[in-house]
Amino acid sequence: MFKNCVFVPINVIIAWAGIWRALGGCSVRVVLLGPPGSGKGTCAKIIGELYNVPVITTGDMLRAAVAMSTPLGVTAKGYMDRGELVPDDLVNVFVEERLSEPDAKNGFILDGYPRSPRQAETLERVLKKSGKRLDHVLHVVLEDEIIIDRLSRRRSCPKCGSIYHLHYKPPKEDGKCDICATELIQRNDDKEDVIRRRLEVYREKTQPLLDFYQKREKIKVIRGDIDLKELPAFLKWILEDCG
Ligand code: AP5
Repeated sequence: MFKNCVFVPINVIIAWAGIWRALGGCSVRVVLLGPPGSGKGTCAKIIGELYNVPVITTGDMLRAAVAMSTPLGVTAKGYMDRGELVPDDLVNVFVEERLSEPDAKNGFILDGYPRSPRQAETLERVLKKSGKRLDHVLHVVLEDEIIIDRLSRRRSCPKCGSIYHLHYKPPKEDGKCDICATELIQRNDDKEDVIRRRLEVYREKTQPLLDFYQKREKIKVIRGDIDLKELPAFLKWILEDCG
């Protein structure tokens, strides 16, 4: 009965599945939740590279708008400098636009969005409209004192968005981005009083989302201080193998 069938070894199937995913043939839609400085951006970049999907970081998009003094940037600046959330309506509009771009068709990593129940409802509506759903909601956790210490020593590249830490992930050349050699900056909102306010705002406005997603999706909790060298393999395991 199997006379005309071609048998393909299982290791060949697994290898092809990896190549297919790397080429964007498999979709992955991920939301990263977690307090400021827990490591969402670091995880988002790794997952984006692993699955060849765009990373959509609302904080970076807003900082770009501030740098260009667009109408959104002018309004957003005050909120960001104080550590408050930018109003939902403004953020929802530009995230909806970004998700409609062709590169987000086969998946995306949302870093820093949604951040309030209204934003989560908007995301749900946008995905439903196109018959899609989230594959994973990752909750990155870390203690406040570690966060404060970390953020005060974070440096980032204003051009390509690469993230560094003076101790855990220093740039190869002092003050310069490894990827594009741009001068690294310290963010305006990485001052201790503003970091503390961002943590309060997170608890008040974003933490209720954990309930929202617990009811709809399975949240996976990960610690934000896993060794950076082991993080890519760990994230792959969390997203693919761990139930
Ligand atoms: P945003 O830019 O999103 O900042 P955030 O949420 O406060 O998060 P951060 O970027 O500070 O931290 P992270 O968790 O990404 O950590 P990272 O990977 O960099 O938002 C900024 C502002 O924009 C908000 O306050 C708000 O005003 C506005 N905004 C943005 N989105 C909005 C929205 N949806 N609605 C309304 N307003 C919005 O890591 C931190 C440091 O730790 C780095 O130095 C990194 O190298 C290091 N590190 C990371 N992981 C590890 C590890 N495993 N081991 C050792 N070091 C590590």
